[in-house]
Amino acid sequence: MTELESEAMEAEFDTVAGWTEEAVRALGPGHAIPAGCRGSGSEGALRWLADRLELHPGSRVLDAGAGVGGPAGWLAAERGVRPVCAEPMEAAAQASRRLFGLRSVVATGQRLPFADRSFDAAECLGVLCTTSDKAGVLAELRRVLDDGGRLGLLVFVADAPLPPPLPEGNEFPSEVETRALLAAAGFELRDAADADLADSPPEWTEAADAVDAEIERRHGHDPRFQQAREQSGRVGRLLGEGGLRAWLAVAVAR
Ligand SMILES: C[S@@+](CC[C@H](N)C(=O)[O-])C[C@H]1O[C@@H](n2cnc3c(N)ncnc32)[C@H](O)[C@@H]1O
Repeated sequence: MTELESEAMEAEFDTVAGWTEEAVRALGPGHAIPAGCRGSGSEGALRWLADRLELHPGSRVLDAGAGVGGPAGWLAAERGVRPVCAEPMEAAAQASRRLFGLRSVVATGQRLPFADRSFDAAECLGVLCTTSDKAGVLAELRRVLDDGGRLGLLVFVADAPLPPPLPEGNEFPSEVETRALLAAAGFELRDAADADLADSPPEWTEAADAVDAEIERRHGHDPRFQQAREQSGRVGRLLGEGGLRAWLAVAVAR
C-alpha cells in the first residue's frame, strides 16, 4: 500500500501538485492561490471559515492536509497569519514552501509532528474524505489545538449511497457521521453551512483554468494526468448531481 489510500489519489495529490507548481512558475505568481486551492477551491468558502476562526496577528495556525498551500497562502495574504502546513505528499509540501514561503512538514493528519496544544486554530479542507481513519485525524487535530482553539473543516459529505463510478480511494462520510466524529474527538460544533464552490471571482476561476490548461499542455499525454482528471471529474459529477456536497464547519476544542 502507498502512503495514501490509493494510487489514483497519489497521482492527484502528489504528481499533479508538482505539475501545478511548474505551471504556476510558468504563468506567474498571481496564479498561485487559485491554482493552489485543490479541493477547497472557492474564495467564499475560505472567507466563511476564516471569519469564524477568531484569528489575530500572531495566532498559531495549522493547515493539515494543506496540499500545495493555496488555502494557507490565502490566509497569510488576507488575514496576516503565518500558517504551518502538514501534508503527506512531498511534492505538494515542497510546492507550498516554494510558491507561498510557508513552513511545511511532510506528515499525515494522523501523525502530526507537533507538541500538544501547539496551535490556536487549524484548518483541514477536503481531507477527511481521503482517509478511512477520520477519527485518527480529528483526534490528532484536537491534541495539537489549545483548549478553546478553533477547527475549520471542509468535508465532502454524502448522506446516501452514491451512484458509481466513484473516485478511487475516497470515503465520503455523511453529515451526521461527521458531526458525531467531531463530538467524539472533543470538539463542539459552532457553525456549519453548505459551501458554494462556484462563488469565486471570475479572475480566480480564469487563473485556475489557465493553470489547468498549462498542465494539460505539458503533461496531457501522461497516464497520470488522465487518471487525475478522471478522479476530479467523478467528484465534479457527484457534486453536480447533488449526492455529494461540500460541508463547512467550525468547531471549538473543548
Ligand atoms: C482535496 S486535497 C485538499 C488540499 C488542500 N487542503 C486544499 O484545500 O487545497 C486533499 C489533501 O489531503 C491530503 N491527504 C490525504 N490523506 C491525508 C491524511 N491521512 N492526512 C492528511 N492529509 C491527507 C492529500 O495529499 C491532499 O493534499
